[in-house]
Amino acid sequence: MKRTILITGGAGFIGSHVVRLFVNKYPDYRIINLDKLTYAGNLANLKDIEDRPNYRFVRMDICDFEGVLNLLQDEKVDGIIHLAAESHVDRSIKDPFTFAKTNVMGTLTLLQAAKLYWESLPEQFDGKRFYHISTDEVYGALEITDPAGVEPPFTTRASSGKHHLAYGTSFFTEDLKYQPHSPYSAAKASSDHFVRAYHDTYGLPVVVTNCSNNYGPYQFPEKLIPLFINNIRHRKPLPVYGKGENVRDWLYVEDHARAIDLIFHEGKIAETYNIGGFNEWKNIDLIKVLIKTVDRLLGNPEGTSDHLITYVTDRAGHDLRYAIDSTKLQRELGWEPSLQFEEGIEKTVRWYLDNQAWMDNVTSGDYQRYYEDMYNNR
Ligand code: NAD
Ligand code: TYD
Repeated sequence: MKRTILITGGAGFIGSHVVRLFVNKYPDYRIINLDKLTYAGNLANLKDIEDRPNYRFVRMDICDFEGVLNLLQDEKVDGIIHLAAESHVDRSIKDPFTFAKTNVMGTLTLLQAAKLYWESLPEQFDGKRFYHISTDEVYGALEITDPAGVEPPFTTRASSGKHHLAYGTSFFTEDLKYQPHSPYSAAKASSDHFVRAYHDTYGLPVVVTNCSNNYGPYQFPEKLIPLFINNIRHRKPLPVYGKGENVRDWLYVEDHARAIDLIFHEGKIAETYNIGGFNEWKNIDLIKVLIKTVDRLLGNPEGTSDHLITYVTDRAGHDLRYAIDSTKLQRELGWEPSLQFEEGIEKTVRWYLDNQAWMDNVTSGDYQRYYEDMYNNR
């Protein structure tokens, strides 16, 4: 079947993996990548597919209502996968307005443009889909608990029957109340509410997913994993917030892209699906794995970079633990993560070490100024 799909934020980290997957897997689809190319957007992420006949890049702000509406009409878009957002918690603490503008107003702009365009067609919403990509951070923070008196992590069993390492007995499920704490998660939560409101009020065919922390190639090195790989390589300090005891649930980015493909095609309208890795790590333990892996791959003796760990002032409002229960997605659509964490981390570290030119390119100019400012003010 021929389709025209607009992917927003396709020049960013997750978006570029989604664009690549769709362009390669669906030669009959036309894939339009709409991206403003902020500091986080980089067309080098898509070099390998940029000349494909089923792909077009459009530089545009999702807040540009006229531009978006014209594009939907001109290209006869019948599906939208919306990833464009400001995505870094630390930046949201410094500049919350930009997050409200892009994440809330930008999403609302897309929703309204999609509604107007699709309503103008004879078939209206038939065969259309607005897929909004959100985050687990909207649910707030979970506790770290040790019910059996055992020091976490302990092996537990989700309702799916899958075993995984966990730091507590509660998990984020789709029916949980939203309790965002950072300006980033508050803005994402607000955009999620608008998406659902457009379904409930106007009947727009929406689907929402909330995913845990992603890692893998092409992630901007302000996020923990690429930042630390780059710092280890350059023998720079590794700024561990607080005591490094916060817990995150890590998923390899290509597994997320696979889930997005599945849900875009088979997810039920108006449903929410949580996507997670069944893979909880305390920051400091993850950082030790990273150090070991980078040192090994660089041929350094074990322990060479341990001294780079530097405990710094904690992030304001730092959520203690995130952990997704993705049983619903597994049960209803048969998705589960394909990659073991050890394998994913090895692949990821290798990619960053082998792609130093990419790293040098994204860490010049504004990036240097941002980090100087950030660390001088800590
Ligand atoms: P990213 O910061 O790497 O990329 C965001 C992209 O959006 C960039 O290409 C940027 O240029 C573009 N963009 C920003 N503002 C725009 C605007 N006004 N108009 C058009 N384009 C704009 O982000 P990411 O990590 O790839 O995250 C993508 C989406 O997935 C976000 O919605 C994020 O909330 C969500 N998410 C991310 C994670 C994660 O771990 N990274 C986890 C769960 C959900
Ligand atoms: P991050 O990659 O920013 O993702 P998120 O805040 O969306 O979870 O951070 C992951 C974890 O690592 C989080 O608990 C904050 C912590 N962290 C540090 O300790 N130091 C750092 O320099 C960064 C960027 C993050």
